[in-house]
Amino acid sequence: MNNEIGIYVHIPFCLSKCYYCDFASYSDMEQLIEPYINAVCNEILKNSEILSQYTITSIYIGGGTPSYIDAKYIKQILDTLMLFTSKEYLDEVTIELNPNSVTKEKMKIYKNAGVNRLSIGLQSTHNNILKTIGRAHKIEDFENALKIANDLSFDNISLDLIYPLPNLTLEEFKDTVDYAISLKDNNIKHISIYNLEIHENTKLAFLLNEGYVSIVDEDTEYEMYKYLKDTLSLNEFNRYEISNYAIKGYESKHNLKYWNQEQYLGFGSSAASFFGGKRYTNIKDIKEYIKRISNNKTLYDEYEELDLLSLMKEYIMLSLRKIEGLNKNKFKRKYQKDVYDIFKEEINELKKMGLLEEKKEYIKLTQRGLEVANLVWEKFI
Ligand SMILES: C[S@@+](CC[C@H](N)C(=O)[O-])C[C@H]1O[C@@H](n2cnc3c(N)ncnc32)[C@H](O)[C@@H]1O
Ligand code: SF4
Repeated sequence: MNNEIGIYVHIPFCLSKCYYCDFASYSDMEQLIEPYINAVCNEILKNSEILSQYTITSIYIGGGTPSYIDAKYIKQILDTLMLFTSKEYLDEVTIELNPNSVTKEKMKIYKNAGVNRLSIGLQSTHNNILKTIGRAHKIEDFENALKIANDLSFDNISLDLIYPLPNLTLEEFKDTVDYAISLKDNNIKHISIYNLEIHENTKLAFLLNEGYVSIVDEDTEYEMYKYLKDTLSLNEFNRYEISNYAIKGYESKHNLKYWNQEQYLGFGSSAASFFGGKRYTNIKDIKEYIKRISNNKTLYDEYEELDLLSLMKEYIMLSLRKIEGLNKNKFKRKYQKDVYDIFKEEINELKKMGLLEEKKEYIKLTQRGLEVANLVWEKFI
């Protein structure tokens, strides 16, 4: 088999903008959907030469809201990618879903087109909280989406949750975690729990600044963290990355490529790639992206060619995001250097601070290190 590669495809359309969201996602742009999808397929075909030299083993269709657009477009994208791979090589094909835009017809099309993993944005189980953060769905929509997924035998489903959300209490958060765990028998095999990021210029930042909503204090947030971490692991959801928990064998193969510093290509506006030691990100503006494709112009607006030292530092940071940590032997195989020959000072200092520990061939974050990972990254930036 050729070298493996992962593919990310960005769908930047949403029904409405959630108050906390800073992703490249837009509402009221329906007229651009068709030209955009054609442009994405064009971008894939323009990469034929590279794609035919690699084996695509994972595809991730993210957004935005991929389930918002007509499912025929998802099929069009997957059919285009299938020109360069085949189902037997594809370990994982994920699509992100918003509970309110899931229908049986769409899901049947996804399944026939090769999707084998669903990632559903639940965020919270409480309708009052969902309303407070501007989500366009209710818990009932999620239940309906999950039933459709189960009826169609999707057996690898991930949930997205966020904490602490505005006006969310500790008790409500515990309910959400308990509910997510209770869905293990309904094929929920993976849970991503993100710590809320408050971005400037979002409606959430405004609501917080003006005092319309509030967020629990740090101590309560810590209680939430402890509850989710302990309860999930007691219930077979093993933490394998800072924000990700999975039943054994259901860790995301595509996302592991990111944390293992493996190659991936991103297609679509704002999509990021890591290829040939370079990181680049496509232009965010949808109209400009479509225009550049048809004019055969360069698509990226961010481009970085990493030198050896930067690649090694990045590899350490990405590896430490995984709970197992950095495998010293793998580092040596990848870079022909002993990690201690280059980063002895940084690693020893972080060990002294109680943020890193060593177990057999692994260097990993301690429990404290997992809580203050930013202090660790600072040493390698
Ligand atoms: C780009 S979204 C795509 C999924 C889909 N559009 C949805 O919202 O359900 C991926 C995930 O990122 C997380 N997310 C988005 N904005 C966030 C923020 N400001 N802080 C923490 N997590 C965030 C949410 O959990 C969301 O499900
Ligand atoms: S649906 Fe997802 S991508 Fe769209 S605005 Fe909400 S969080 Fe952002």
